Amino acid sequence: MSLLPRLWALALSLSLIPAVASRHESLFTSSVSYCADPVALFVQQFDIEYIAHNSTIFFNVSASTVEENLYASANLMVNVYGIQPINITLDLCDVLGGALCPLPQYNFVGWDWLALPDELDISSQVPGIAFKIPDLEGYAQLQLIEAGTDTVKACVQATLSNGWSTNQIAVEWASAGLTLFALLSAILQSWGSASLAAVRLLDLLYLFQVIVSTAFLDLNYPVVYRSFALNFAWAVGLFAGSSSRSVQASIDNMRHKTGGNMADSNTGSAVSLVNRALSPYNQVATVGSADASGDSGSSFSTSSFGGLLAVPKSLAVTAINRFKRGFVTAGDVQTVTTSSANVLSDGIPIYTNSMHVGTANAFMTVFISVLIFAAIAIGILALLYGVLFLLARSNPTRWSRHKEMYPLWARAWGIRLGLIVLFPVMIFAFYQWTLKDSWLSVLLSVILLLVVLAGVGSAVFFTLRTAKQSRPSALYSTPQHAQSLGPLYMPYREPRFYFFLLVLCLVAIKAIFIGFAHASGPAQVGGLLAVEIIYFVGLCALKPHPTRGADVLAGYLSLTRIVTTGCLIAFIEAMGVAAIPRVAIGLVMAVIYSVSVVVMAINILLHATLYTGLWRRKPTDSDEATLREDKGVAKDETYLDSEKGTPTSAPSTAGWRPSAEHAPSHARYDPSSTMHVRQQSYDLDSTTGLRTHA
Ligand SMILES: *[C@@H]1O[C@H](CO)[C@@H](O)[C@H](O)[C@H]1NC(C)=O
Ligand SMILES: *[C@@H]1O[C@H](CO)[C@@H](O)[C@H](O)[C@H]1NC(C)=O
Ligand SMILES: *[C@@H]1O[C@H](CO)[C@@H](O)[C@H](O)[C@H]1NC(C)=O
Repeated sequence: MSLLPRLWALALSLSLIPAVASRHESLFTSSVSYCADPVALFVQQFDIEYIAHNSTIFFNVSASTVEENLYASANLMVNVYGIQPINITLDLCDVLGGALCPLPQYNFVGWDWLALPDELDISSQVPGIAFKIPDLEGYAQLQLIEAGTDTVKACVQATLSNGWSTNQIAVEWASAGLTLFALLSAILQSWGSASLAAVRLLDLLYLFQVIVSTAFLDLNYPVVYRSFALNFAWAVGLFAGSSSRSVQASIDNMRHKTGGNMADSNTGSAVSLVNRALSPYNQVATVGSADASGDSGSSFSTSSFGGLLAVPKSLAVTAINRFKRGFVTAGDVQTVTTSSANVLSDGIPIYTNSMHVGTANAFMTVFISVLIFAAIAIGILALLYGVLFLLARSNPTRWSRHKEMYPLWARAWGIRLGLIVLFPVMIFAFYQWTLKDSWLSVLLSVILLLVVLAGVGSAVFFTLRTAKQSRPSALYSTPQHAQSLGPLYMPYREPRFYFFLLVLCLVAIKAIFIGFAHASGPAQVGGLLAVEIIYFVGLCALKPHPTRGADVLAGYLSLTRIVTTGCLIAFIEAMGVAAIPRVAIGLVMAVIYSVSVVVMAINILLHATLYTGLWRRKPTDSDEATLREDKGVAKDETYLDSEKGTPTSAPSTAGWRPSAEHAPSHARYDPSSTMHVRQQSYDLDSTTGLRTHA
């Protein structure tokens, strides 16, 4: 019974071991950009790594200095979490034995390892946590300032990383694997109209989508939280552009031919384009932070660092001699200043560009994912129908009922797929409308949105019409409805069947706030918080689920969303929360969501193993008895009538016994599956809100 979770944990830990073991403590540059238009120094590649255990610097640099007779001073500034532990300015004529005075005109192209002399003792200067904390937020900035004129001749910024991140391939695969498992168990169970597994599948996907959507707002997220949310990007149909370059290139092409002129998908790191006021740069120009930087800067002042740079005279010569001369082109390194147009604002732009998907490509990427998803679903449904068709021909008595049930079952899955894609499609379609980019993207977004809304809307319409024309109980007691429209209202008990309306409205409102209100982070947070609180109040007041357990689970997930949405307040730029508290809050949010994912995983695995366990159990006498009883009342004829919707099958008069409602399909499917339904009747029947009298 506990085998599956154990295997799961084993697979997870196995996949993590090599990643941990092969990692040595180091700090390296993860992206590079100019912070002023380059005049004297061109950089094409700037990979520098400090390896702690043997105190070695690895560099792989391609850069050139082009200005003649440049006597300059260099300012090196390091900003870590908004604190500036290093801000030193040195006259280049005073250091490295004058090797850089004047700045030699060189093309530096090359890579090497340099063992640092022991005198430097960098490891004692760098706190150990810098090598461990995930998604380190820091950058180094080197400025060359011409002596005399004080003009900035070069300004290069490089972000720092230690290789740790909350964005892990293993997590992506584990979450996708869990979803696949939930999907399989939902498909197997969904022959019964009231499949709990299918309900949990939607819950799980919605949870992933919510996690992603909380990283879509116009807020100053700590990198650690955005990386965490990137793990679940697949749940909204975003797949990394790096793994499908050609798709992104085609979308770029399509946009440019249809009036789109926004930036293409990037191939390099999006971090270099992030607005400098945001994480990981945290360049806040407020008085408070300037004071803070002054304080911490003094602890690591020029005097203690100047001597340090004066030491390695031989080192400088070695380093310079090891560079090969080569040709350096302008390269991809971009100039990013506060006034340049290429900066990425927070929310969807930074999120999608982190995956190498351009801001204006986001909707089209989701669109293509939805198309592929729909094509796969239609293919599988058609395949299953073909199999059933053949089976029904070879063994009509056993399989023809299934064939007749099949359209209902397929429709239910169609509704489920519509519910799954509804939230992301709304978010990205709305967002695309605000971009004023390619008209074709907008047209396709309108079409896709209309198709999805029509699918879900028609199901809602038929549900409400049935509830109005007969009674809500007809929704649950008529297999025709329960089998096909069930995904909407089956999670709720009969008197509260309409609760799905509240859920759908709130999801739509969330998508509107995320898609349209992206100019104002506070409005987005306020809107989402209000929606989550309304949902929680509705949940507490109506207790819509048939079991206490289901209500508790929904309440727990709702509270999770309220708390994490509340935490987002700290990320509002105007709040000016410092980087370290924001990172702490981001970590707490990531932990809260991780726990909820684990809770969902346990729930799904428990139900799946309970299911398989009962599946294999031998029939007992009482099971046989109920089976005979079911056959005895010749349920099949009645069932057929009701399936065709003939008037004689009106739920109140058809003579249905609620206890037999799932039974016909299962009885024909496999005798043991009937048992399963009966054994699990507490769960299943209570999920449907049916009261079993058997
Ligand atoms: C230092 O360690 C790194 C990685 O472990 C290795 O690649 C490099 O060659 C080492 N440097 C020296 C000078 O031994
Ligand atoms: C240095 O960078 C170049 C260009 O990106 C790359 O081809 C080369 O393999 C790198 N060298 C090392 C040792 O990583
Ligand atoms: C770094 O120090 C210099 C003076 O040495 C000062 O002018 C500059 O504003 C400081 N930089 C930052 C980012 O605080």
